[in-house]
Amino acid sequence: MRILVFGPQGSGKGTQAELISRKYKLPYIATGDIFRFHLKSGTELGKKASRYTDAGELVPDEITNEIVKSRIIQPDCVNGFVLDGFPRNIFQAKFLNEMVEIDWAFLIDLADEKAIERLKDRLACKCGLSYHLLNNPPKVAGICDKCGNKLFIREDDKPEAINRRLEIYHQETEPVIKIYQDRGVLYKINGDQEIKKVFADIEKNISLKK
Ligand code: AP5
Ligand code: MG
Repeated sequence: MRILVFGPQGSGKGTQAELISRKYKLPYIATGDIFRFHLKSGTELGKKASRYTDAGELVPDEITNEIVKSRIIQPDCVNGFVLDGFPRNIFQAKFLNEMVEIDWAFLIDLADEKAIERLKDRLACKCGLSYHLLNNPPKVAGICDKCGNKLFIREDDKPEAINRRLEIYHQETEPVIKIYQDRGVLYKINGDQEIKKVFADIEKNISLKK
């Protein structure tokens, strides 16, 4: 099961990708989380990537492609994976296409205004989980339910960076979605519903083809 999750910033890609990964026991790979993990761990890659991520710009393809390649060739990905945040432009899509075939590409559809509204109250964890102060709060305030680490506000959840990320999404990522549509593996999901309803729609599409 090779699954991609697309959608504008704040649409719930990470939230849904994590649920898919847990339910179908697939490795969850999120390029944004990998960059944030490196930044928090103080690696050279983290420092290099943060120049782009903090401003809401894409990290150069040669860096991102290699990170994805080195992850999906690992033995735990042999039966599939859930990829969140990759590919984001045509070059990355071509690179991925040379390595693997995708079975499901989910597009979580949400209007920009609603996505921006959600990002204002998001809390993130370095393990990759996202919370929301109102819609999806952690059990203990400020602490991740899964790993117990302290939650934080992402550097790129500032208005300027959010706007830039959405602009890039419409210009560079939307043309990629068309590729998967043409291949007949694109499933458009209404992201403007409760988290569990969005997930139920995803599950329905998976079970129809499994
Ligand atoms: P990345 O981390 O992927 O960020 P993003 O694309 O901006 O998307 P987000 O993580 O902000 O949103 P999401 O859709 O995952 O929403 P979430 O589930 O958290 O990338 C960050 C940066 O890394 C990029 O800008 C770039 O610099 C770099 N990068 C990454 N990939 C790259 C690539 N391929 N090439 C180059 N550079 C790359 O949900 C949002 C909030 O809403 C949360 O608070 C959540 O709890 C809440 N929520 C979720 N679903 C619902 C719902 N149904 N109802 C109500 N609230 C909900
Ligand atoms: Mg995310």
